[in-house]
Amino acid sequence: MGMKRRMTTGIVFCLGMLLFCACGKEQSSKEDKVYLGVAYYDQSDTFLNSLIDCLKDELRDYEEEGNEASILIRGAGGSQRIQNDQVQELIDAGCNVLCVNLVDRANPSEIIDLARENNVPVIFFNREPVTEDMMQWDRLYYVGALSEQSGVMQGELAVELIESDVGVDRNRDGRIQYVVLEGEPGHQDSIIRTENAVDTLKSNGIEIEKLSNGIANWNRAQAQNQMLQMISQHQNKIELVLANNDDMALGAIDAYEKLNYTESALPVFLGIDGTDVGLEAVRDSKLAGTVYNDKEGQAAAILELSVALVTGEGMDAVALEKERYIYLPYFKVTKEMAEALLKDKNL
Ligand code: BGC
Repeated sequence: MGMKRRMTTGIVFCLGMLLFCACGKEQSSKEDKVYLGVAYYDQSDTFLNSLIDCLKDELRDYEEEGNEASILIRGAGGSQRIQNDQVQELIDAGCNVLCVNLVDRANPSEIIDLARENNVPVIFFNREPVTEDMMQWDRLYYVGALSEQSGVMQGELAVELIESDVGVDRNRDGRIQYVVLEGEPGHQDSIIRTENAVDTLKSNGIEIEKLSNGIANWNRAQAQNQMLQMISQHQNKIELVLANNDDMALGAIDAYEKLNYTESALPVFLGIDGTDVGLEAVRDSKLAGTVYNDKEGQAAAILELSVALVTGEGMDAVALEKERYIYLPYFKVTKEMAEALLKDKNL
């Protein structure tokens, strides 16, 4: 064999080996293990903590079915800068799918860039990025619920109560004096829930008069403070409290309890979420009703989508709207439903 021939054979052999190795790598890089990296905006948020508990439950069931999975969770304490660093940390730790609950839903670009550079798909949840940002890359998804629907349902609950109980209009002036406790400004669930609840009351022919509104950032203690101020301003004129979530509705109730109001002087309180504390308050007739934000359904959808993205299997079964969105429906909760839900959860 001449020198040239030997070299060619050598090169062909090496190329063959390279190809062989590359194919081998290709096969083993088809991942089976789902490694979820979860980043959420604030560890003190009641709804999100329970949603993440649901996600852990889902993951446990998935493992019990004989699959390999793990999860790494980081809370950002309300700072987008911290969250960006946490996402980098999750990627460095080897997470192969990112579940991101943005701090600032209008500011996801850094996270999207990081994910794209490392080719790790992102499932945003609960705090919805705007459409233009969702279009920045084709491996971006969103799991949540439709704010408008929750607002309409809260409005319908109010209509049902007002129509079935003349006592709601305590001063009998034919109008319902109401206040609103709002979540964070800029969150899709704040403005849209309020607008739709109020519009639903109006479109059902209920005469309403807004006395005040206060921003309490989804937070029970802040809502209590806001409510104390509103009570000092309007005394017992307030007949209805519309809160953008259960925690704020509970904060409003705390304010009245602090002031020792008697039951007959209390307004009607309505929340949204159906958190455990919220459901207990509905069962105990402190909260007139709430609207269930289906955290179990959202967690299941996040995991189903994660598994499909990582393993490349089951994507056809994922019910995506507009190719990248999953919205779980809300439902209304009054006393009986709250009792049933709590019983179901052994609470
Ligand atoms: C929930 C709130 C929660 C907020 C956080 C909303 O959908 O109703 O309870 O605080 O999301 O982003």
